[in-house]
Amino acid sequence: MRIAVIPGDGIGKEVVEAAMLILENLNLPFQYVWLEAGDEAEKKYGKALPDETLEEVKKCKAVLFGAAGETAADVIVKLRQELETYANVRPAKSFRGVKSIHSNVDMVIVRENTECLYKGIEFEVDGVAEAVRIISRKASERIVRFAFELAKREGRKRVTALHKANVMRKTCGLFKRVFYEVAKEYGEIEANDYYIDAACMYIAMDPWRFDVIVTTNMFGDIVSDLAAGIVGGLGLAPSANIGDEYAIFEPVHGAAFDIAGKGIANPTAMILTASMMLRHLGFEEEAKKVERAVEKVLAEGKTTPDLGGNLKTMEMAEEILKAIE
Ligand code: NAI
Ligand code: MG
Repeated sequence: MRIAVIPGDGIGKEVVEAAMLILENLNLPFQYVWLEAGDEAEKKYGKALPDETLEEVKKCKAVLFGAAGETAADVIVKLRQELETYANVRPAKSFRGVKSIHSNVDMVIVRENTECLYKGIEFEVDGVAEAVRIISRKASERIVRFAFELAKREGRKRVTALHKANVMRKTCGLFKRVFYEVAKEYGEIEANDYYIDAACMYIAMDPWRFDVIVTTNMFGDIVSDLAAGIVGGLGLAPSANIGDEYAIFEPVHGAAFDIAGKGIANPTAMILTASMMLRHLGFEEEAKKVERAVEKVLAEGKTTPDLGGNLKTMEMAEEILKAIE
């Protein structure tokens, strides 16, 4: 099975090295194809997502992606669109031993990944800049159904739609309407909705009311960082971009240039991202093993400085590797 590995820029390279240490010790039937993309690739080849990278990626079953820097929109947003990975799945879960604003949080954010303001349709004419927000029935139905199917599969009880249909009556209005149409097919799962602004307050103050969240692209981007923030930060937040044919696995965080090169990035997000990849590819046992090892190491407080510890990225990865049974 071919897996594309794109470390990218900044801490992307550091956390991918950490995740690869774990993967390479699991004896998986994978063939890793190392590819370039990001700010450095742009400098080298004049293109942040070189044609060769895109071609090679399409020959792989999954992509393991670190982070891009300033070229993120040209790389990861483009990859998600090119590979039609329409669902961005971002769990936000509390870990024992991690100091955080809240504990016992366990929600999954399902973010539409192909349209909304991230379509990149922008104009600037005579000092006025415009952006076009695209929300289609087709993509909305597909993402809402994905969210309900995920809830069913994981035994989750409620799916909540986030939108701003009182202001964006057409775009958010369509999304909300489609949400309740699809919800009818899943009578056993509770369906409700909030305005995105109120939902942010609830995520900050009462996150336990959320189980599965489904929302449009930009709102999903924002609330997933918010949700990561209440459970211990971006260093812990994994994500998966799932399509019918391809899947891209990347942490929620970016290139974090403020800490890049110091070897202190938390590898947990990237390692949990690799675990999501394992589960997606049918290696459930291995995925669980990795998660249990991460939980153990976090509970013992063996962490990088973002969580109050003093380990380096690779030292924490070594601890996780040692904890794998
Ligand atoms: P960021 O996610 O890279 O960092 C935000 C904050 O969280 C920083 O203070 C950083 O030090 C901290 N942080 C992130 N990951 C961490 C980890 N694993 N361990 C410890 N601390 C961690 O977002 P920021 O700073 O807004 O963007 C930096 C660059 O990354 C920009 O060039 C941006 O365009 C790019 N970016 C790329 C993304 C992608 O490739 N998917 C996503 C978000 C940003
Ligand atoms: Mg983001």
